[in-house]
Amino acid sequence: MADSKDQKQQDTMEKIVSLCKRRGFIFQSSEIYGGINGFWDYGPLGSELKRNVKDLWWRSMTQEREDVAGLDATIILHPKVWEASGHTSTFSDPMVDCLLSKKRFRADQINPLSGTAWFWTGATDAESDKVCNDKFSMLQLPGKDANWVRKGAMQFYKGRGLQSPVLQGETTEQVTNTTRYNEENGSLLTEPRAFNLMFKTYVGPVESNDNVAYLRPETAQAIFTEFKNICEVSRKAVPFGICQIGKAFRNEINPRNFTFRSREFEQMELEFFIRPDEVAAQFGEVPDGEAEGEPQPNWGWKAWHLYWLRKRLEWYASIGLTSENLELYWQKPEELAHYARATVDILFKFPFGTQELEGIAARGNFDLSQHQKFSGKSMEYFDESAKAKYIPHVIEPSAGVDRMVLALICHAYHEEEVTDEKGKTETRIVMKFHPRVAPIKVGVFPLLKNKPALVAKAREVLAMLRPYMTVFYDEAGAIGRRYRRQDEAGTPFGVTIDFDTLGENEDLSLKDTVTLRERDSMKQVRVKIDDLLHLLLKKINS
Ligand code: GAP
Repeated sequence: MADSKDQKQQDTMEKIVSLCKRRGFIFQSSEIYGGINGFWDYGPLGSELKRNVKDLWWRSMTQEREDVAGLDATIILHPKVWEASGHTSTFSDPMVDCLLSKKRFRADQINPLSGTAWFWTGATDAESDKVCNDKFSMLQLPGKDANWVRKGAMQFYKGRGLQSPVLQGETTEQVTNTTRYNEENGSLLTEPRAFNLMFKTYVGPVESNDNVAYLRPETAQAIFTEFKNICEVSRKAVPFGICQIGKAFRNEINPRNFTFRSREFEQMELEFFIRPDEVAAQFGEVPDGEAEGEPQPNWGWKAWHLYWLRKRLEWYASIGLTSENLELYWQKPEELAHYARATVDILFKFPFGTQELEGIAARGNFDLSQHQKFSGKSMEYFDESAKAKYIPHVIEPSAGVDRMVLALICHAYHEEEVTDEKGKTETRIVMKFHPRVAPIKVGVFPLLKNKPALVAKAREVLAMLRPYMTVFYDEAGAIGRRYRRQDEAGTPFGVTIDFDTLGENEDLSLKDTVTLRERDSMKQVRVKIDDLLHLLLKKINS
């Protein structure tokens, strides 16, 4: 039962990946050279979708608020930033290598296996005096016999320079739930080692240790380093935030699940600076949990943390992702970063599992304190209304753009059985994006392309709508085919200009009206051209 569900989810994911390529949402980067693992390009529809996500986030986090300012910082920062933040020493994943294929895996993602493990103490070479005393082991995978296992071991010793290895000291043992073997070929894996995920580069022409720099693994740190500058220029008082959208780079050991775990991706991060609880207490009792309504001067980190969770969930709902598709995960105390007081992850139910889209962390004043320590520059803030000096604490909602786009694509993907006017049943693939994020808002179609009056009118409608929304003009093929193409692109509305529009049919009251088709219901209504823009804007933003 579970297997067929898994298979169905895998099939859905394959269909989604194929639609993304076919319709120009997402391509593999450098595909003509065979692709590069963990890197993705967004095509015409994908780039619009991504831009909409970023614009909507930016608008809600900055432009619609008085207490958040924006930042656009560089990707390469002074290397000391990463020492201060702890990334140089601790931003790593445990990694293991396959001793046969040399493939690299994340140690915490190895599936436990059970079966007969075979061990050898070494091997001698039948064609020379060479001896190799390296120990090796193989797990006998299901359906494989002793010969297969020994062949694997011989391959290992050949790799150690023996031409015709004769295996030595063979023993076997039953093992259960071990993560020491590669499930692809049964080979022993190395012991886990820490692998730093930051991409390294050199600044300037000399490749020396003095010139090492890193591509930022998160956008957050530049916000901390610019904290003082932005305090001065923005005239904002704590509590206030700084947000940034931009590229981040992580040399992930195992990029997977399409764009979900990429090596180059974009983040949307807010660092919201707040009073330490003891300062907030001057303004009244500090709430110990959720506080209703608008922010108050006595809010401590718990109330702010829950406030940002609420705000972020409201934002997700505004783009069509609700509690039906999302889950919250409160990190357990032992899972929290050492400086974090609480972290709640917002997860989305992807076809490949329920996984993180965003984390909202209460980070104390760790980051600013570290930068004060490493830079020697004060990060203290004087709070005029509290008459107190302190290093602000921070709440950090941190989301991934690419994961959000993938979630929207997975959520939008629908297959429906539909019957046309001739009674023929077919599968309609429709991307049910919320109109706010849809890459194209409206398709404009003249009923026939060889009737100049229809084409001219359609182009008039196009010109009227284009300044206000993304519009796609299509005159090729039967109207039904054109609707289907836009269904796959996720275009929520279609406008058709026909002979009624021109006043060439009996019912003259239909002159200067068009049919407006809704993607999800496929229902069509007649709308006056004069009312069209207003109506579409209302529908897109409702
Ligand atoms: N400043 C905090 C921070 O960077 P994170 O949980 O490591 O926290 C935040 O990353 C978000 O960035 C994640 O919730 C995810 O959406 C996105 N993200 C992280 N690693 C990613 C990757 N390899 N590929 C795509 N998105 C990623």
